Order: sequence, then structure tokens, then C-alpha cells
Amino acid sequence: MNIADSQTVTAILRRAGYITTDNAGEADVILLNTCAIREHAEERVLGRLSDLARLKSAHPERKLGLLGCMAQHNRAALMKKAPWLDLVAGPDSYRRLPELLANASWDPAVDVRLDRTETYADLSPEYENGVRAYVTVMRGCDKFCAFCVVPYVRGRERSVPAGDILREVHQLAARGVKEIVLLGQTVNAYHYEQIGFGELLRMVAAANGVERIRFTSPHPSDMTSDVIEAMVHEPKVQPYVHLPVQSGSDRILTAMGRGYTTDEYLRLVERLRLAIPDLALSTDIIVGFHSEDEQDFAATLGLMRTVGYDSAFMFKYSVREHTRAFKLGDTVTDVEKSRRLAEVIALQEAISLQLNHALVGREVAVLVERPARRGSGMLAGKTPQFKTALLPEAPAIRPGDTVRARVVSATAHSLVCTLA
Ligand code: 5AD
Ligand code: SF4
Repeated sequence: MNIADSQTVTAILRRAGYITTDNAGEADVILLNTCAIREHAEERVLGRLSDLARLKSAHPERKLGLLGCMAQHNRAALMKKAPWLDLVAGPDSYRRLPELLANASWDPAVDVRLDRTETYADLSPEYENGVRAYVTVMRGCDKFCAFCVVPYVRGRERSVPAGDILREVHQLAARGVKEIVLLGQTVNAYHYEQIGFGELLRMVAAANGVERIRFTSPHPSDMTSDVIEAMVHEPKVQPYVHLPVQSGSDRILTAMGRGYTTDEYLRLVERLRLAIPDLALSTDIIVGFHSEDEQDFAATLGLMRTVGYDSAFMFKYSVREHTRAFKLGDTVTDVEKSRRLAEVIALQEAISLQLNHALVGREVAVLVERPARRGSGMLAGKTPQFKTALLPEAPAIRPGDTVRARVVSATAHSLVCTLA
């Protein structure tokens, strides 16, 4: 999401006459786009900011700005911790960046107003050249999960008009992009006029040149039959769903306000797997949420085993100001959270390895993206299930090609292949 936003910011500033540089040391303006989802993300930003402050003190006229969710989340604390900032702008203020930059003087320019309608729909982000492009189709979130700061920093849910999405997709296809990833905080909540997410998938699938379509992240509660049907009937929509579950305990799911029980979630998984037999699934897990006890945690491990996710993103619960769970505080110590995190990671590694091993000998269609590690003589790409595949370089194979490959060995994170 932040990469996509940075591409929008780049497009806005380029229109205003700015150009980009890879060398921060020669930049007149340095903007840091930030995440506020966990405290750890914020700490890293503060670390980076103090590095950049050195570049600024070497050239005081150089402008240093902070963008994104952290700007929105705790601007007051930020201005204290980083008083040398010239500019602070939240996720709905990017159109005003040229103006804010022009005005910034002794006092920092601050704009963190949330805008219920801003989608940047008319702007073509400055996409990087590549095989895959991420197209934002909706912004914000209305779910208000108890742990999550997103609705407060990115504001209410709003969808990009379908016409703007299609224009973007056609432009990307014309540039040789093969895979489109539709992006949104709760992407399957997309609705614009009469068009829901299933219909949007069908419309994007009709674009010539686009070979693969993915989306992230859907919310389990918005996974309607219409979306599942579009996945079944549109071969371009790839058999992979990232379906954040957060916890395997019904008590914790209720406290989190996730809007589903483990039973409902598992039934959804079953429906998806029946409809799409070669489906890969991944998830997000939080350990150590307020009041999570051993029994709750064991239920999470149990659910991970039951589903058998292909991969997972796993996090220690981080208390975030403004959220509903903030006032509840932390009941699980950091040491205990670390123990639980290590345990879910170890379990997931074992499951991923087992699932990937089962693919040895199988043929897979790999969309080639880039050379793998330098000097390895290998190319890297993705299978339809979004697994990383490595295959030997060959003069005829270029990024953007889809090749048949046979899996010869596997780790928890990649498939090593030969050409089939
Ligand atoms: N603490 C830990 N993880 C969080 N996430 C969101 N908020 C928090 C928090 N306060 C995780 C969720 C979400 C993912 C993007 O980040 O798992 O799905
Ligand atoms: Fe946060 Fe919940 Fe919205 Fe996801 S659905 S962005 S976890 S509030």
C-alpha cells in the first residue's frame, strides 16, 4: 500500500516539475512515507529520520518531510522528536504537496486532514517498470478491528471509479505489465455504483494483455459468492487468496471485533477450496492480543494446522493509540509474546516446507520476473499460487515470459525448478 502511495506522490511531484534521484545526498527534498501499523514500524522511521537529519544539517535549505500514516497518527509527538521536519502530510493530503513544499519556511507545513472522498483516481501513479503492478482500487477501512489504527489514519472506506481503474489497467498492459494486483485495505469491500468486487475482477480480466490478476487484502466477511465465482470463471484470476484470520480463538476474535467466528472462517476456507481446487492460502496472525491466554494461543496453533496455510505473516500485538483496544492495555508480556511468535513461526515454516515438498516432481507455470540472486545463474518468478520459483537462466527466457517448469526441490520459501 505504501509503495503504491509513494508512486502516487511521485506522480504528483513530477507534474509540479520535480525529478527523482537515487542519491539522497543530492536531493533538494526528501520525503519519507511511513507506516503506523505497529510500534516497531514507527521506531524504524524515527531511526531513519535521525539519519536524514544529518543530510539536512549539511544543507539546511534541503527540505525533509514525513508522509503517510505515522504523520496522521502522532504528529504532535513527531514534531517534538523530530523538530527539524519541514513538512508533515497525511495520506489524503498528497495533492497539496507542491503547495506545502513551496510554503515551508520556519514553521513546518502540516496537513493531516482526512478527506472522505480522496481516491487520487484521476492520477496515474508513477509505476516502476516490471512484470507486476499494484493498482489501488479502494482506500481506507470501515471495519474498526479493535487492535488496528488503519481506519483512524487512512479514514473511511471509498472506492476508485471502475472507469479509472480500467484506464490504468489498459495503460499498464500496453506497457507490457503482465500481472495486475488490485490493492485495498479491505479490497473485496470494493463497490462503486452498481459494481462490486466480483464484477470488477471480471472487468479487469477482460483487458487484453493482462495475463494474471491478483488482489490483496480481502476481508473474510466480504468474501461473497460473487467474488468466488469470478475467481472460478476468470482463468486470469490466480488461485491464491491472502485471508487474514488474526486468531484461532473465538473469544479473541470477538474481542478483536473481526466479525466472524473460527467456524465461519473455516467454512469459507472450505468453500474456496471446493470452488478452486489448487488454491493457495496465506494469512496474518497476531499473537499476544489483550487477554490472550494459553488456551487461546493453542487454538491459533490448531487453526493454523487445520487450514494448512501456504504462508503467513505473523506479528506480536502492538498497542496502538486511538484504537478501541488501546485503553485495555497489554496483558501479555513481551517475553511471552516473543515465545508465542517463535512458536507460530516455527509451525508455519514446517507447514510451508511440507506443502512445498509435496510439489516436487510437479509441473508449474512460472511468470518470470527477474534474475535471482546475483551470480546464481537463476531466474526468479511466481507460480499461479504466488510461490517463488527459481529456474535456470536461458537465453530465450525473458522477464514477462510464462514458462513451464518442473519442481526439483523445495524450501519453506521457494521452489527450485528445471525447465519442463
Ligand atoms: N499489532 C500487531 N499487528 C497488527 N496488525 C494490525 N494492527 C496490529 C497491531 N496493533 C497486523 C494484522 C493485519 C496486518 C496488516 O497487520 O495482522 O492484518
Ligand atoms: Fe485494520 Fe481490521 Fe480494517 Fe484490516 S479490516 S485494515 S485489520 S481495521
